[in-house]
Amino acid sequence: MTTRLKFLQTLTVTVLALYGTAGAQSRGGGAVTSGPVGRNICDTCACAPDNLIPLTVNCTCTKTKLLIVREQDTVVLSSVRDLTLASCGFVSLPSSGLSSSTSLTRVTVRDMKLFHYTAGLFPALESLSVEDVGELVLDGFGPANRTLRHLTLRRSKVIRLVKGTVTAAAPLRRVLFDRVEVDEIESGALDMSFVSDDNNGQQAASDGFTVVDSTIKSLQSSAVTVRSGAVRILNSTLDDMASGAVVMDDAHGGIRLSGNRLGAMVGDSLSATRMDGDAAVYVDGNAFRTLPADMQLLRSERPAEFVGNDVDNVDLGPFFFGLGAAVRASDNRFTCDCDPRHISVLKINQVFPGLLQPEVDSRFATLLANNYCRQPANTTLAGYRDLLVREIVCEGANVTAVQPPQSSTAQSPPSKDTATTNRGNTVATATAMYATAATVVTSLLLRNLSVS
Ligand SMILES: *[C@@H]1O[C@H](CO)[C@@H](O)[C@H](O)[C@H]1NC(C)=O
Ligand SMILES: *[C@@H]1O[C@H](CO)[C@@H](O)[C@H](O)[C@H]1NC(C)=O
Ligand SMILES: *[C@@H]1O[C@H](CO)[C@@H](O)[C@H](O)[C@H]1NC(C)=O
Ligand SMILES: *[C@@H]1O[C@H](CO)[C@@H](O)[C@H](O)[C@H]1NC(C)=O
Ligand SMILES: *[C@@H]1O[C@H](CO)[C@@H](O)[C@H](O)[C@H]1NC(C)=O
Ligand SMILES: *[C@@H]1O[C@H](CO)[C@@H](O)[C@H](O)[C@H]1NC(C)=O
Repeated sequence: MTTRLKFLQTLTVTVLALYGTAGAQSRGGGAVTSGPVGRNICDTCACAPDNLIPLTVNCTCTKTKLLIVREQDTVVLSSVRDLTLASCGFVSLPSSGLSSSTSLTRVTVRDMKLFHYTAGLFPALESLSVEDVGELVLDGFGPANRTLRHLTLRRSKVIRLVKGTVTAAAPLRRVLFDRVEVDEIESGALDMSFVSDDNNGQQAASDGFTVVDSTIKSLQSSAVTVRSGAVRILNSTLDDMASGAVVMDDAHGGIRLSGNRLGAMVGDSLSATRMDGDAAVYVDGNAFRTLPADMQLLRSERPAEFVGNDVDNVDLGPFFFGLGAAVRASDNRFTCDCDPRHISVLKINQVFPGLLQPEVDSRFATLLANNYCRQPANTTLAGYRDLLVREIVCEGANVTAVQPPQSSTAQSPPSKDTATTNRGNTVATATAMYATAATVVTSLLLRNLSVS
């Protein structure tokens, strides 16, 4: 536990103690005389349709910044379906959770500095919406493990999402992070299984896991698992993704990574298995600090778009020759400098004329014509290749590989998909050809070869 958290808890206890005294005094004054139980939650919160058997409780903390839900309130709360807690300075809930609130399925928490969701707090929760919370501490959902369907976090900060926050037992529909800041997602924190709408067996377009305009500093291995749902990561910053950080299994509705800033990652930081025929992969408009040459999403036989990305650093040879046959890569901007990892492959036809088989060569030519240098602006890779060959740039540069790719990308099978549909011999042949070419190219590039 952080010292800050401890401090806040101490403060809470202190403030609650003071409040308790004040409450006792006001009761002593005779304002509330309904026996030892005294005030109930409907005295401080708006209860509808009535205060006896309310269905909706709206606590906006307008009268006082403190909200104390006592054990005796659980009787009133047992009928409630919808609870809103908003703008409270401090909220105190029974430490054992509201175990008899078995009808309480929708909870909204808004506009607070700190909210601590202790495990088991709302045992039948189906929908949790957290908005404008300065620090959300989420211990997990306890028995609501098996009922949680919607989780929405907006404009909030979470220091750490701990292991077991969402488990595979939850029948999820939608999980949304919108303008959320997360420092760390631990291994096994978001283990999410999405289920179809019971009514028609069809999933709505919005079903799945969506991250928008958010910042996640670190994702450990297996931090996020998404089963049977769409995955959308949009306009967000992901600083550091471990191997296996995001695992997508059977991603109905596809995978979209658009407009993100992506920091440290490796080939399988994002990986997909068992995608059905209609699901597509879009990776567009992202800024990659280091694009892994063996990015798993772009190496399988499934169709994918890799378009309009800005790439700081990639080992271009293994990247291009490892691309799946149905992957379209165009309008990306790569760093064009004299680093052998960026230029060796561009000169391959000059250094090894006739090495590439015609089909591979034609694909390669298309890739060079459709992708660009970041600088000089508007120069295609083919254009840069011509500058290299004419030695207008990088005169005397050595065509050497800096290091053998550790993952020996070229040799690894292009797809781990177990259920990839057989798209016929053309694709298989092309894929085999790319793999062969990549093996040859990589092995050649690994030697220290000088072109000058
Ligand atoms: C709760 O109360 C606030 C302020 O009175 C109101 O704006 C809001 O619509 C209410 N919400 C619900 C769910 O009743
Ligand atoms: C919730 O799920 C976790 C992980 O599967 C499990 O350890 C925990 O016992 C579950 N809690 C309840 C109350 O079912
Ligand atoms: C992402 O950012 C782009 C450019 O600022 C904007 O056009 C787009 O609507 C944004 N997408 C989302 C989902 O916010
Ligand atoms: C690059 O091309 C675009 C569109 O053709 C043009 O607007 C832009 O001015 C060009 N930039 C440079 C540096 O030539
Ligand atoms: C090329 O390699 C040789 C020997 O390793 C080295 O001396 C030379 O500086 C290199 N040239 C460039 C441009 O990096
Ligand atoms: C390639 O060059 C590096 C550094 O110049 C050297 O350490 C390495 O032994 C060379 N490799 C081969 C296969 O010659």
